Order: sequence, then C-alpha cells, then structure tokens
Amino acid sequence: MARRSSLLLILFGVVLVQACRKDPSAEMEELVVGAYRPTPLQLDIPTWALDSIHPVILPSSNPLTVEGVALGRRLFYEKALSDDYSMSCGSCHQQAHAFSDPRQFSLGTDGSVGRRNSMTIQNAVWDHFFFWDTRAATLEQQAFGPVTNHAEMRNTWPVVEERLRAHPEYPALFAKAFGDARIDSIRVVRAIAQFERTLLTFNSPYDRYVHGGDLTAMTEQQVRGMELFFGDAHCGDCHAAPRIQDHGAQNIGLGRNSSDLGMMEFTGLEIHRGRFKNPSLRNVAVSAPYMHDGRFNTLEEVMHFYAEEVDLADPNLDQHMFAWTFGFVDLDAQERADLVAFMHALTDEEFLTNPAFSDPN
Ligand code: HEC
Ligand code: HEC
Repeated sequence: MARRSSLLLILFGVVLVQACRKDPSAEMEELVVGAYRPTPLQLDIPTWALDSIHPVILPSSNPLTVEGVALGRRLFYEKALSDDYSMSCGSCHQQAHAFSDPRQFSLGTDGSVGRRNSMTIQNAVWDHFFFWDTRAATLEQQAFGPVTNHAEMRNTWPVVEERLRAHPEYPALFAKAFGDARIDSIRVVRAIAQFERTLLTFNSPYDRYVHGGDLTAMTEQQVRGMELFFGDAHCGDCHAAPRIQDHGAQNIGLGRNSSDLGMMEFTGLEIHRGRFKNPSLRNVAVSAPYMHDGRFNTLEEVMHFYAEEVDLADPNLDQHMFAWTFGFVDLDAQERADLVAFMHALTDEEFLTNPAFSDPN
C-alpha cells in the first residue's frame, strides 16, 4: 500500500512538472478537472450515419459531458450575451427552422442588417469548418464571433464574463461543468460548442424509408425525387448521403457579379471566389430562405436556378458541376416537382421539436 501511494505521489509530481510548462490557466484547469469529473456523454449516432471518410470531430480539449451540454444549452439561449439583453444565439438560430433564421438577413441588437443568411446548426459534429466562407475551424472558434460582431450581439467578452459571474446560477453551473466556478470566454464557447454537438438529426421520412425499412415513410413522388436526386439530377454528387452534405465548399454558379466573394474573403485566393460552404439539405423545407444570401424564398425557386440559371461561364464553377457543363442535367417540370417533394422528406419533426434542444428558461 505504502509503495503504491508513493508511486502515485511521484506520478502526481511528474504531472505537476509537465503542467507547469504550460500556461498557468491551462494548468489550473487540468488539475482541477483531474480532481472533479463531470459525467461523460456519449452521442447516440445510428451506425449507418457513421463513415470512415468523415469521422465525427470531438476535440479532446473539450470532452462532451452532461453538465457541459446543459450549461451550453442555457448559454445558447442566454440574452445576457448581447449588449442590451435582447438577443441570444437562439434568436437567429431557431429550433423550428433547424436552428436557422427565417429572415433573409438577421438583424443585430441595434437593428443593423447582416449580409448573409443565418445557417442551420445540425449534425455539426462532422464539420471541420464553419460559416459560409469556411473561416472558423471549430465550433469553439465560431462561437467567439457573434458576441462581439457589430451586426449581431454587439457586446464585449469582459462584459459577458462579468454578467455571468454576478448571476445567481451560472457560477454553480460552470463549477458542475468544468470543476470550478471560474467563468471566462473560453469556457463559454466550450459549453456552447458541446451543446451544438448534440444537435443530431437522423429521423426524417427519408431515413425511415432507407434505413428503417419503412417503405410507407415516403410517397411515390418522393421516391422518384430521391432516385433523381442521387441519380440523373446529380444533386447527391455534393449533397451526399448520409448527411446530405459533402463537407466541402463549392462555387455552384450563382453569378459572378456578387460583392460577396465567399471563401476568397478568407483565403485571398482568386480560385476561391464564389465558393461557399455546402449546406446539409436535411430539414431544408423548414430552413428557407436559401443560399448564402437568402436570395431564394422557395425550393421551387432553387430548382429553377439549378435547371435554368447556373452560370456555366464562371471560370471558378466547381468541377462537381460537370454534369451541368456537359448539359446532362435537364429537368422538366415534373422532375423539379419530384425533387422538391423529396427534399420535404428530409424534415425530421423529432429534431425540430425535441425538448432537449429548446430554450430551458
Ligand atoms: C444576429 C443573428 C445571429 C446571432 C445572434 C448568432 N448568429 Fe450564428 N450565424 C448567423 C449568420 C448570419 C451566420 C452566417 C454568417 C457567415 O457565414 O458569415 C451564422 C453562422 C453560424 C454558425 C455556422 C454554421 C455552419 O454550418 O457553418 C454557427 C455554428 C453559429 N452561427 C452559431 C452561433 C452561436 C453559438 C451564436 C451565439 C453565441 C450565434 N450563432 C449567434 C447569425 C447569427
Ligand atoms: C457542385 C456541388 C453541388 C451540386 C451538384 C448541387 N449543389 Fe446544392 N448547393 C451546393 C452549395 C455549395 C450550396 C450553397 C451555395 C451558396 O449559398 O452560395 C448549395 C445550396 C443548395 C440549396 C440551398 C440550401 C440552403 O440551406 O440555403 C438547395 C435547396 C440545394 N442546394 C439543392 C440542390 C439540388 C436539388 C441539387 C441537384 C439539382 C443540387 N443542390 C446540386 C452545392 C451543390
């Protein structure tokens, strides 16, 4: 017994020496988390939704815990994050709309208008970049942005931290999630990211039809649309199963004279002009308006674009648009309607109404 405890002591000493080389706040955090353990949380993902090319991304610096997710949910809906207490993340990312905003452009707390359509937040645990122009690499990094963005929450992090520290409940919630009551911006974004990673959607009629063996889950028209989607209409080349997304960014020929340069604004490279993140089409029927600038109000308008208006002369047109370049995609009115019907089969009512994802306040 005595030998074992002295061995432990030596080990502890080694850990301490290692920890001292890092910055002091990280050291504190690791030691404290070592002493206190929030409850680890396992994501419940159906096996068919996993694939080896795109693994789920769970950073070891921010493991999922029951308490962390609960805190993140509170913070996601916390209006104290905005300067005048009028707005939370949930104001522009509404559950009923797959955590997007039905307005073309979201309004900031002072009424200023953004220039891009709010994005859905769903199955984000697979994504390795965020924003339409791909500029954030992690959900943690992403969540730093809106709080200080002048067209959004218009706040500063010191103010947010002070408000949460003075709050009657948050210090205890942070202690439960992270082992001690320290509140800082890093912990705020970590908790929010944990909550966002639990926003999984895999229970649409399409899933029940294809994976659940329920052949009544989709209508005949939706089945025709599905066959087109993954076949002659070439939609599935980019909006790939099972997540109806390919985790890339493409230029689909929306027009060359846009002031929004897309990924080029972030990389500075001309070849990235007009490239935008490929959005998952899950729940697309409830996440209008469409495209990075919300230019289309309906799925019918989107179909009209893909059938008639793709800018084939754009030198940056994505190579996956080859079927358009070679004129293979020729969709008549019936086929467009079938594709729209199929996209409606991607709506997951359980996800849109799951009480675990709603405003806890
Ligand atoms: C005023 C409206 C508004 C608020 C408030 C807001 N967002 Fe957003 N969100 C947007 C818009 C618009 C975009 C797309 C911006 C872009 O691409 O430049 C976006 C993008 C995102 C994305 C990227 C999704 C993806 O697939 O790449 C995530 C994640 C996100 N927001 C989470 C949050 C979180 C967390 C908060 C709160 C801390 C928040 N948002 C607050 C409007 C808002
Ligand atoms: C070359 C890859 C590619 C192909 C092929 C493709 N898409 Fe897209 N799709 C994208 C990208 C990228 C966007 C976002 C573009 C933007 O906002 O600038 C998008 C956006 C959309 C949107 C709007 C989603 C939203 O949340 O705003 C819909 C709907 C859509 N596509 C349906 C289809 C259909 C139907 C087909 C087949 C006819 C198709 N797509 C073929 C890459 C592709």
